[in-house]
Amino acid sequence: MSVKACVFDAYGTLFDVGAAARLAAAEPGAESWAEHWPRLAADWRRKQLEYSWLRAVAGAHVDFWQVTQDGLDWALESAGLANPDLRSRLLALYWELPAFPEVPAMLQALRAQGRTLSILSNGSPAMLQAAVDSAGIAAMLDGGCLSVEEVGVFKPDARVYDLVGQNLHLHRDQVLFVSSNCWDACAAAEYGFTAVWVNRDGAPIDRLQATPGHVLSDLSALPALASQLD
Ligand code: LAC
Repeated sequence: MSVKACVFDAYGTLFDVGAAARLAAAEPGAESWAEHWPRLAADWRRKQLEYSWLRAVAGAHVDFWQVTQDGLDWALESAGLANPDLRSRLLALYWELPAFPEVPAMLQALRAQGRTLSILSNGSPAMLQAAVDSAGIAAMLDGGCLSVEEVGVFKPDARVYDLVGQNLHLHRDQVLFVSSNCWDACAAAEYGFTAVWVNRDGAPIDRLQATPGHVLSDLSALPALASQLD
């Protein structure tokens, strides 16, 4: 078996980051802003990631919970929705984001193939633990949740991808790295992992230093792909 481990990005890949705004918009009292949830969700995610990259470049690290709050504050102000109750509700929902529907069966199939499963994420250890517990997938992740907090810099700094070898004791070519964030999959490919981009929205590929070797439209075909690569 050449694919010893499957290592997953968390937010957007296993967990549906749009769900916090979508679920809050469906709650009683949200009628006045509900139709704006897609823009709010997109702005929140975009700013969260931009702040992570900018802080990495500037050497001004804070943890992902801080950039998540900062991104939300920008998005709420931009939408004219700066309201403390809404802010609190959205942040609470971020701790219990649902996994995408195909995730549990996909992880089970990969475990049945004998592969080590792990998360490598910008998320703080507490955020990742809450997410895997809430989605009921912690027991399947025998390789655990690897957080950038171990190195104090966000993706795509190579020190983050180094955490996989350091913690799982594998060579780069034994790792299948899976991300719905194209820039993350590109950086992982450049690093030497076999990289899979999960392109749920049919987006164009990022023009970056390397290209992921595989593209899937969701995670359901991942166990079959891993078998092909063995
Ligand atoms: C993560 C972000 C990039 O989980 O989605 O690392």
